Amino acid sequence: MRKVNIIMNGVTGRMGYRQHLVRSILAIREQGGLPLPGGEVLYPEPVLVGRNAAKLEALCAQHNLSQYTTDLDAALADEANEIYFDSQVTTARVAALTKAIEAGKHIYTEKPVAESLDDALGLAKLAEAKGVRHGVVADKLYLPGLRKLKRLVDSGFFGRILTVRIDFGYWVFEGDWQPAQRPSWNYRSEDGGGMILDMFPHWRYVLDHVIAPVRSVYAQSVTHIPARWDEQGAEYAATADDAAYAVLELEGGIVAQINSSWATRVDRTELVTFHVDGTHGSAVAGLRGCRIQHRNATPKPVWNPDLPTSHDFRGLWTEVPDNDVYDNGFKVQWEEYLTAVATGAPYAHDLFAGARGVQLAELGTQSAREGRKLEVPAL
Ligand SMILES: NC(=O)c1ccc[n+]([C@@H]2O[C@H](COP(=O)([O-])OP(=O)(O)OC[C@H]3O[C@@H](n4cnc5c(N)ncnc54)[C@H](O)[C@@H]3O)[C@@H](O)[C@H]2O)c1
Repeated sequence: MRKVNIIMNGVTGRMGYRQHLVRSILAIREQGGLPLPGGEVLYPEPVLVGRNAAKLEALCAQHNLSQYTTDLDAALADEANEIYFDSQVTTARVAALTKAIEAGKHIYTEKPVAESLDDALGLAKLAEAKGVRHGVVADKLYLPGLRKLKRLVDSGFFGRILTVRIDFGYWVFEGDWQPAQRPSWNYRSEDGGGMILDMFPHWRYVLDHVIAPVRSVYAQSVTHIPARWDEQGAEYAATADDAAYAVLELEGGIVAQINSSWATRVDRTELVTFHVDGTHGSAVAGLRGCRIQHRNATPKPVWNPDLPTSHDFRGLWTEVPDNDVYDNGFKVQWEEYLTAVATGAPYAHDLFAGARGVQLAELGTQSAREGRKLEVPAL
């Protein structure tokens, strides 16, 4: 059994606690560790870091952990700690990652890795120069729905892919008459909030990996709800975009339309759907499910508003079977990353991939500001 100490910064937050600490690192411990290719077992030892000692102490007590500190510098100075993980608010990330890389730690981090492409590339280059392993969360790729979609793409099911339509979003309460279900900083641009900065990094790796590389972007961003109420019930100005409507071109002339909104009411089977149309078939993937319609099963509707619709369009789709066991996506990616650290193997979802996500967010924001389509140059 080989123990590996992981500094985990931001575990009092939504993502850090639920997905990274509980569902990933603690789950790996509960299964007895992570078996490595050579037969050795890696056992993660979290070192919780945050600003509030009482909260960290409570987390340790709740989960039978022993190591926590509010002193990040001391944790980084400790040679026993090999990996630094960051799920802090976005604005705090670059400074912390920079320190951790300079201290020689391997890096694993939530997205977006930075608020600007310059900062994101700076981190990636620094990590390369220091020779540390670096990884960035790309959780959507591990969703059962997207794994099924990728399987369809790889099998040639679609023929020539024509378009992708991503429909993401749900109503996030304003906070006055019902508390908001997302932290308030997400709605203030000065605090790292905004739909484009939050979601375009996800759309970048999803499109690049599952469909085709992104070549250009046109985006229109909006703040539909200009005032919201925070965790203390105080009204604040929502300065960040809460919706973005984008058209992207992918390699091969594929057109992607992406609606991302926190001001929409769901009339879909899932909180996000990916609709892909190809010459030979179409698919609609969600978080877990994926439905397909082959060209041979495509109905032939005729436009006639005088008559009620005669087709049950939804009923003509076929559910793709699981054919696999899907573990929590965050955990699966942690296991891949930890294996790469332990074996020294290259890791694909690295800080350069993270920088490509920030690049799309930056260009999307610029496109919205200038009202024009922008090329997405290779990095
Ligand atoms: N991969 C995903 O699907 C996904 C989903 C949501 C959020 N995220 C990312 O995870 C990160 C955290 O998001 P969250 O929703 O967990 O946020 P959150 O507000 O719930 O948690 C933020 C964490 O950062 C800490 N923090 C450090 N400095 C802070 C400061 N100056 N002000 C406030 N908090 C500070 C908080 O204590 C807390 O632990 C963000 O970068 C976000 O983009 C990723």
